[in-house]
Amino acid sequence: MNGEGPGIGTVEDAGDGGQHPAQAVPRRQTRPVIVPELPREQADTPIGREAEAAVGVHGMSHRPPWPRPPRRRIMTIANQKGGVGKTTTAVNLAASLAQHGSRVLVIDLDPQGNASTALDVEHRSGTPSVYDVLVEERPLADIVRPAAQMPGLFCAPATIDLAGAEIELVPMVARELRLATALRAFDSSRLDYVFVDCPPSLGLLTVNALVAAEEVLLPIQCEYYALEGVQQLLSTAELVRVHFNPGLHVSAVLLTMYDGRTRLAADVAEDVRAHFGASVLRTVIPRSVRVSEAPSRGQSVISYDPGSSGAIAYTQAAQELAMQSSGTRQHG
Ligand SMILES: Nc1ncnc2c1ncn2[C@@H]1O[C@H](COP(=O)(O)OP(=O)(O)OP(=O)(O)O)[C@@H](O)[C@H]1O
Ligand SMILES: [Mg+2]
Repeated sequence: MNGEGPGIGTVEDAGDGGQHPAQAVPRRQTRPVIVPELPREQADTPIGREAEAAVGVHGMSHRPPWPRPPRRRIMTIANQKGGVGKTTTAVNLAASLAQHGSRVLVIDLDPQGNASTALDVEHRSGTPSVYDVLVEERPLADIVRPAAQMPGLFCAPATIDLAGAEIELVPMVARELRLATALRAFDSSRLDYVFVDCPPSLGLLTVNALVAAEEVLLPIQCEYYALEGVQQLLSTAELVRVHFNPGLHVSAVLLTMYDGRTRLAADVAEDVRAHFGASVLRTVIPRSVRVSEAPSRGQSVISYDPGSSGAIAYTQAAQELAMQSSGTRQHG
């Protein structure tokens, strides 16, 4: 494979003056959509919560399904900075797309197994998992499980065994290609999206995810140092593109944990839009207690509290992704 095709943007080169990507699109299109937090009293009582949930669930059944992509999209959710919302984003975008008629697989590529926890899929040590797929060449179909919370939502779980895989993969043949090979052998003709949730590192697990995907989704937390390390990720993605995967590109940047009360969050959001331009989703994910509570109930916030600001924002972000897909295919 060669390195033809447009390169993956860099933080430095994306932010310059005349060629500024943000200037290529009208300002109106890049203005963030910020979903306000619901009033505390409403969200903090069980009755309020049930009312919100009822509204969310009720509303959903009347909404038409979103367009499905003409072919399966494989998106790697990566940022080697820890705790920026990778897993939360993977789980909630997946749940939202599934709720709107798509079939979605989340591959948990993090030994912490947080995506598996949030989707309530068994991931005790010894459970058939992504470790077996990558290291033992077990078929992906053997380990994929349905997530009970939503029809059309599936998970390939990670167990703590995966922690050893970074080392065990080193001497293996085609060590960077193992996830891509497993995905090719997996009959995913009925899937619309595959989200790969990466660990907070740029090791062989993340490289496997970048080789297997066509798209990178980059969550960026609206905090100080937000862009720290992003350049390294982009450089790694560029190396993967040149050597293994010429179609790889950053198709979406998502601003997470936005706190509308702080000037800092607004400044970070502005910086990120200046660097990445039109690839930044218009929707911004607010900091929301419901989002952080949901995994402890083995749920996405989409099912845990559909009327909450976090669920609404992730639904809007998922809709933006769905609308990026050109063309549609029949539901069913
Ligand atoms: N919008 C949000 N509002 C409030 N809390 C959030 C939000 N998004 C994520 N969190 C919380 O922040 C923490 C980090 O999020 P998450 O686990 O998704 O990050 P991550 O990038 O996957 O972390 P890691 O690098 O460890 O894999 C979690 O406790 C999560 O519940
Ligand atoms: Mg994570």
